[in-house]
Amino acid sequence: MHKKSVLDTLQLIEIPKISDPDGRGNLSVIEKEVLPYAIKRVYYLYDVPSDSSRGGHAHIELQQFLIALSGSFDVVLDDGEERRTFTLNRPNKGLLIPNGIWRELENFSAGAVCLSLVSDIYKEEDYLRSYDGFKAYLKTTS
Ligand code: TYD
Repeated sequence: MHKKSVLDTLQLIEIPKISDPDGRGNLSVIEKEVLPYAIKRVYYLYDVPSDSSRGGHAHIELQQFLIALSGSFDVVLDDGEERRTFTLNRPNKGLLIPNGIWRELENFSAGAVCLSLVSDIYKEEDYLRSYDGFKAYLKTTS
């Protein structure tokens, strides 16, 4: 039988958008209950060659929210058994990645900027950087 994966529950989250009534463009804001955690760090990826991939790791505790501020890229998520690909290509849609999920970011368009809003400061010990290590870690938590 198909075991329900956390991946089945993930979907792009709409970020509130304020469109200027006089046609001066849009403004999106993340506050209050948009994210289930307090943002402790913000970083962004840019100038990523289209044939490069980023990520290639999981986090033990860290939760992460990704937004394509400009351009587009794909986020491949893997729970150790299944994979799902999400395309981010709008500045008012984001993807919340829970802890314990392997991620790879690929197919960056020219000029793509990936904003990352995360739940903790940088801690190398929170990373699972090998896929085999990730699978072994999952066994210890199931
Ligand atoms: P990494 O998280 O592996 O990047 P990505 O998943 O986007 O490919 O980080 C790349 C390098 O940058 C690595 O040497 C750690 C360093 N780094 C920091 O020093 N601080 C940070 O907040 C982040 C995200 C990375």
